[in-house]
Amino acid sequence: MTKSKTHALMQRGIEFLGSEHAILCGAMSWVSERNLVAAISNAGGFGVIACGAMTAELLDAEIAATKALTSKPFGVNLITMHPDLTDLIAVCARHQVGHVVLAGGIPPKGSVEAIKQFGAKVLVFAPTLALAKRLLRSGADALVIEGSEAGGHIGPVATSVLAQEFLPELAEDHVVFVAGGIGRGDMIAAYLEMGASGVQLGTRFACATESIAHPAFKQAFFRANARDAEASVQVDPRLPVIPVRALKNKGTELFTQRQREVAQLLDEGKVGMDEAQLEIEKFWAGALRRAVIEGDVENGSLMAGQSVGMVTSEQPVAEIIAELLAQSEAAFAAR
Ligand SMILES: Cc1cc2nc3c(=O)[nH]c(=O)nc-3n(C[C@H](O)[C@H](O)[C@H](O)COP(=O)(O)O)c2cc1C
Repeated sequence: MTKSKTHALMQRGIEFLGSEHAILCGAMSWVSERNLVAAISNAGGFGVIACGAMTAELLDAEIAATKALTSKPFGVNLITMHPDLTDLIAVCARHQVGHVVLAGGIPPKGSVEAIKQFGAKVLVFAPTLALAKRLLRSGADALVIEGSEAGGHIGPVATSVLAQEFLPELAEDHVVFVAGGIGRGDMIAAYLEMGASGVQLGTRFACATESIAHPAFKQAFFRANARDAEASVQVDPRLPVIPVRALKNKGTELFTQRQREVAQLLDEGKVGMDEAQLEIEKFWAGALRRAVIEGDVENGSLMAGQSVGMVTSEQPVAEIIAELLAQSEAAFAAR
């Protein structure tokens, strides 16, 4: 059988990930646990466990449980500001995890080396081309460029712009995955044609049949339009808050209120800047759990990307992946 154009262009990504298709399901805190991750990898995609704020013990159990559900490759996403990053890397080493994604900031000194030391590949995010080049020079094996259309914590620049800026410079010599705002295979074809080795999607997979997200969380996604997935607003210039894209609800207002409270604590000298920022991150972690696990779609955080408008019903992961690949191939055939 001749290889599809989609797979021919994904070849480098496929070799890098060891999966059947170079389609990653980006780690989503609370959502990307054993069931969704194993389902993605079993369907030929590449699942990634979201470590989030988990302890080393919890991560250990999650990796073991995922391994019990799939023999296919999967990765682990670690947040760089986690206070126990070194222990989390050690857990990944014990399990011989093949790929570690470092998210949430510039990898701290020694972290990339520590991961590579046990033979795993390191994927990093980079908000600017200069930083991307630096990280690739200093040992990162692959890059994810993620635009502001994405769900969760976001940067200020759209995926389409990042792709035009990064891919012509980096794609020839490096493995680059594009993320943010991908809802259909047509878009996958376009980024592959521009030189991407593969793509990463989150929002499209969050409500898959195999996702443990609460039915109320899924319903909110099915009802939402692209414009409902809004980026959070920073209320105090002294308190830099990484914007988060989520469906607008009462939780969005609660976040604004929490920022004001934390800014006041800063004013009164009751907390320092680092602590203030940590408080904000804790707010998100708690609020996301409330929505995903408890189904409190009013007060919880419904992190979602703008592609949420293209998520209209619950579908098994294998069906979503097959649909994306067919759309990508149809787009190439129409060229
Ligand atoms: C509910 C939700 C939670 C997320 N949590 C994380 C996370 O913990 N770590 C991370 O690196 N990215 C996180 N993301 C981003 C995804 O991994 C992925 O890059 C993003 O969803 C891709 O864009 P898309 O939503 O437009 O498909 C999250 C996204 C969503 C929708």
